[in-house]
Amino acid sequence: MKYFKKLVGKKCYLSPIDVSDAERYTEWLNDIEVIKYLTLRDKMVSLVTEREALERLARGHSYAIVTLESDELIGSCGLVDVDYLNRTCEVGIFIGNKEYWGKGYGTEALKLLISYGINYLNLNNFMLKVYSYNERAIKSYRKIGFREMGRRRKSVIIEGKEYDTIYMDLLAEEFESIL
Ligand SMILES: CC(C)(COP(=O)(O)OP(=O)(O)OC[C@H]1O[C@@H](n2cnc3c(N)ncnc32)[C@H](O)[C@@H]1OP(=O)(O)O)[C@@H](O)C(=O)NCCC(=O)NCCS
Repeated sequence: MKYFKKLVGKKCYLSPIDVSDAERYTEWLNDIEVIKYLTLRDKMVSLVTEREALERLARGHSYAIVTLESDELIGSCGLVDVDYLNRTCEVGIFIGNKEYWGKGYGTEALKLLISYGINYLNLNNFMLKVYSYNERAIKSYRKIGFREMGRRRKSVIIEGKEYDTIYMDLLAEEFESIL
């Protein structure tokens, strides 16, 4: 695996996706504790499907999240459905290595991604979806400046319980760039 320091923070940097990391991603995307928070929780992810997915993602604005201290891959994040006419996009993120949860990496990675989206892609509105049971993610998104714009009630059923899907968005003017 080979990483390139495209967007650099204090704890981590964002690098283009390396397809040869497919095995690591496949391992994470078969970990129930990780995928219970993701839309692909009901998908079958195999080495074959993950290689294909990474080939596709590696051509868009998706990035590997890599630690600065040890050049270790810990997850990925990206901008999808980018609309350059209306300057909107959707963002997604996951840290697959659970040892790195709650240590500030996700917040920093997302700040780097949004800073890049604002400063270099001229994007203005960033949207995301998060499940109401994902308190860690919601806390991180609020710290960045995301605000709830609405929720689809009882739209997720997991482990026998119903939860909401929360829609959040952020405008460029509400965000303090770190690039
Ligand atoms: C969501 C995610 C990207 C956040 O990244 P992270 O590095 O774990 O988050 P951060 O440490 O930057 O911020 C999380 C905040 O929530 C707090 N937190 C940690 N665990 C928590 C928990 N179980 N419940 C509530 N808050 C929690 C942290 O203390 C921190 O707040 P603070 O800075 O005020 O102390 C990461 O946890 C992840 O990938 N989770 C699994 C997949 C996922 O949920 N993806 C998002 C789908 S919408």
